Amino acid sequence: MKISIVGTGYVGLVTGACFSDAGHEVMCIDNDPKKIEMLHRGEMPIYEPGLEELVERNVKAGRLHFTTSIKEGTEFAEVIFIAVGTPPGVGGEANMTYVEQVGREVAENMTSYRLLVEKSTVPAKTSEHLKRTVLKYLQADTDFDVASNPEFLREGSAISDATRPDRVVVGVESQRAGDLLEEIYRPILEKGGGKFLRMSVTSAELTKHASNSFLAMKISYINAVARICELAGADVEQVAEGMGLDVRIGPLFLRAGVGYGGSCFPKDVDAFVRLSDFLGYDFKLLKEVQRINQTQRDYVMKKIKQELWVVQDKKIAIFGLAFKPQTDDIREAPSLYFVPKLQEMQAKVCAWDPIAEENFKKVHPELECAKDLYECARDADLVLILTEWDEVKNLDFNKLKEVMTTPVIVDGRNIFKPAEVRALGFTYHSVGRD
Ligand code: UGA
Repeated sequence: MKISIVGTGYVGLVTGACFSDAGHEVMCIDNDPKKIEMLHRGEMPIYEPGLEELVERNVKAGRLHFTTSIKEGTEFAEVIFIAVGTPPGVGGEANMTYVEQVGREVAENMTSYRLLVEKSTVPAKTSEHLKRTVLKYLQADTDFDVASNPEFLREGSAISDATRPDRVVVGVESQRAGDLLEEIYRPILEKGGGKFLRMSVTSAELTKHASNSFLAMKISYINAVARICELAGADVEQVAEGMGLDVRIGPLFLRAGVGYGGSCFPKDVDAFVRLSDFLGYDFKLLKEVQRINQTQRDYVMKKIKQELWVVQDKKIAIFGLAFKPQTDDIREAPSLYFVPKLQEMQAKVCAWDPIAEENFKKVHPELECAKDLYECARDADLVLILTEWDEVKNLDFNKLKEVMTTPVIVDGRNIFKPAEVRALGFTYHSVGRD
């Protein structure tokens, strides 16, 4: 089938590459000519493992095309996915300007039936606004549908998430729209497994809100348990393992640490709280999830202060700037909290990250960075671990101890076993295990 996808960010580009790899002919559209030029040259505007090869293979096979023109995309395919950004705008509400703009341009250019599919994470009821926009700008006398197909892929493992989904959720208002989407996903589901779920548009929109908020709740829950573990003298890793083996709970998203970040959970939990408030339900449970996440960073900061006593003039080496490994994304990353706070306290901060340094420096150009973990930790009074990169997991502790002034580690990701690190002569603090 022919498919157009507007927006070449994480969601749009990965979806486009995976649809084309499944045998469809795909046109990816972006209004940023620089991004489209990069893609024509075979360069990726985002970092995602495996994406470059996937794009290259499908471009060569003639199944994947790029353009800046929505008109071209609208003429190209019957189904048009909208995967443009919905960043928090004034007052924190999702900025829907780009979605509206796409709806308008598609409407102005369509001459026969088109199915517009929301793929970006959007507030519930967006489809109604989108429908109104299309009706307002439609030039031709033609039918159209609006559907919701929320994305569940994770940065860093986006390709395997998109090709082996647990489920594909589609919210549709007509048989035709549902059948078109089922046909698009058939080759992916046949190969990768997963269930195809048809539901109402609003239910599909809410499924996305409810899923991300539930996962965020799991993380805040285990972080709260971690604090109790420290007070009671228990080990949160052992507790999480004991809980996770119950199939009703499951082992995933029970890693305690410095709290969740990224472009999705903080924004999506906030959007769900706002939507609930708007609809007349005070979602106190989710407000507490947010509070726990915010205070989790303060909680780790307290450990640093207690350990260093005076922070001023101490050298702190930060391992990891990205919000999680396998990505260069720093949106809502814990590093954005710790770096300025430590600088305010006049610590000497040096950081290391294999791929997120450039993005971080766009916001904090003053931050000193090292190309190597041990250079970063040279003469440091404390190492703070914020991202569980493999390089950090495979640390050479003897080498680290040699370069540091005092061998102290505050591990915001619970990577190591406390007894083992302490046996090597380190003072080691983590979350929920002291
Ligand atoms: C998340 C969801 O997992 C995806 O299903 C969803 O499609 C995506 O948001 C989205 O809405 O677009 P993502 O933000 O890429 O994906 O990253 P996750 O792997 O979910 O991690 C989010 C944050 O939670 C990270 O900061 C991670 O370090 C933290 N986390 C995760 C924990 O602190 N503990 C855990 O046990 C798991």
